Amino acid sequence: MPGPNPTEGLTMRAVGITRFGSPGELTPITVPRPAPLPTEVLVRVHAAGVNPLDWRTRAGLPTPAATALGAPPHILGWDVSGVVEQTGAGEFLFAPGDEVFGLLWLPRPAGAYAEFATAPSRQFARKPAAIGHDHAAAIPLAGLTAWHALTDIAALQPGQRVLIHAAGGGVGHLAVQLARHLGAHVTATASGAKHDWLRDLGAAEVIDYRATPFEKVAHDIDIVLDLVGMAQPDTAPRSLDVLRPGGLFIGIAPRRPDGFADRAASAGIRLAPEPLVEPDGHGLAELARLVDAGELSVHLDRVFPLDQAAQAHAHAENGATGKTVLRIAD
Ligand SMILES: NC(=O)c1ccc[n+]([C@@H]2O[C@H](COP(=O)([O-])OP(=O)(O)OC[C@H]3O[C@@H](n4cnc5c(N)ncnc54)[C@H](OP(=O)(O)O)[C@@H]3O)[C@@H](O)[C@H]2O)c1
Repeated sequence: MPGPNPTEGLTMRAVGITRFGSPGELTPITVPRPAPLPTEVLVRVHAAGVNPLDWRTRAGLPTPAATALGAPPHILGWDVSGVVEQTGAGEFLFAPGDEVFGLLWLPRPAGAYAEFATAPSRQFARKPAAIGHDHAAAIPLAGLTAWHALTDIAALQPGQRVLIHAAGGGVGHLAVQLARHLGAHVTATASGAKHDWLRDLGAAEVIDYRATPFEKVAHDIDIVLDLVGMAQPDTAPRSLDVLRPGGLFIGIAPRRPDGFADRAASAGIRLAPEPLVEPDGHGLAELARLVDAGELSVHLDRVFPLDQAAQAHAHAENGATGKTVLRIAD
């Protein structure tokens, strides 16, 4: 027989939507506090990261999460950093008081824009000691996207030449550092104002995609990581011109025009299946180790209080430099 639920009758602050639409649909609400099931942990959320997935889902656009979410009401958000409040039966990785961060439940709803969230313990890792909750909440989805692409998909080897498109974004600036850490020669595309920053993060070459076609500079590339996707649909086909035969194209949310696969095949270029990021506590533990070793840093653009989630979405949607975060507790 399950024991009494210690969170029964308790409520929490959250931000939800009752219909898809503009950032103004994000509304402060009070909802029941969740309780951890066996093998889960209940986390008091200190900060929640904002990703393009969040605002695209809020706007009612097709996203990997849209099917699982169904019709509103919803509490959005998948990235959290916080403190373990309570553990479920059989859970043995964490104890109350531990500081953890995680990408939760994706593509199912996680309800991260709230004071508490529950998820299986293995979706969390210990928060890097070197950074606070605001920075830690900015890492999971973007960091795991970059890490899975460069390690699991590309099996990146030292000395390989990597071209990262949209290197100035939330995923891109982490991918630059991770590729550099893995020993790659990194070429990055970004708007001009971000070039010094990206060089400091480890890019050997930076191309202003607005001023110079990247194929005039990049050549003999082993791996293209295209994070531009739908923002610039010709980035994927033009990338085939800079990859060496046997090279690998990884497109995160790319728009692949007709004939793209045939052109790649005839040039001897491999196309990775489009990846979708997923929860991965082990991957996060590796990212946390790199943060604490000074090998990886996340750039926060702005931090908003939870009740300003609408402003946070509007800000992120209009092109932040780095990550946007909601602070829920100090
Ligand atoms: N499938 C998945 O699992 C998954 C996971 C994470 C993200 N994503 C997708 O991946 C994309 C990137 O995510 P994100 O979080 O990094 O987004 P983000 O933080 O909004 O960054 C996007 C960046 O794209 C840059 N950009 C726009 N047009 C460009 C171009 N033509 N060439 C080079 N850079 C360009 C912009 O920087 P500048 O100032 O330099 O223009 C901007 O910083 C989004 O579409 C997101 O939905 C998919």
